[in-house]
Amino acid sequence: MISRFGVSLDSELLRDFDRLIARKGYRNRSEAIRDLIRESLVQEEWRGEGPVVGVVTIVYSHDKREIVDALTDLQHLYYENIVSSMHVHLDEENCLEVIIVRGRAGDVRTLADRLMSTKGIKHGRFIATTTGKGLR
Ligand code: NI
Ligand code: NI
Repeated sequence: MISRFGVSLDSELLRDFDRLIARKGYRNRSEAIRDLIRESLVQEEWRGEGPVVGVVTIVYSHDKREIVDALTDLQHLYYENIVSSMHVHLDEENCLEVIIVRGRAGDVRTLADRLMSTKGIKHGRFIATTTGKGLR
């Protein structure tokens, strides 16, 4: 079922919003607002105890053997929270790893932080997403 509701806001704020969503390619305000609401609900999931899903990406030099060992140890320690991982050899030296993580928000966050803060990692990013169960 679809509900409609009216929103009152400052016209300059609305103009800025319209400009932003046009740039992002939304066709109308409803779609943009739906996504904002879903994003807030996902943020809220990460504050709860329920299962969540995330993606960790890390870039490092495989010349540093201690990084490779540390990453393997960490992934075996948290094997229950790792759904899958992909390793790409970017060039002669650099590796990209994409690790899909799942579980309780606290555990998953700790694992992501530990992966990204492993000594020698050149760049780490974490996307906190959702199992989708709590969203329409
Ligand atoms: Ni292994
Ligand atoms: Ni590699």
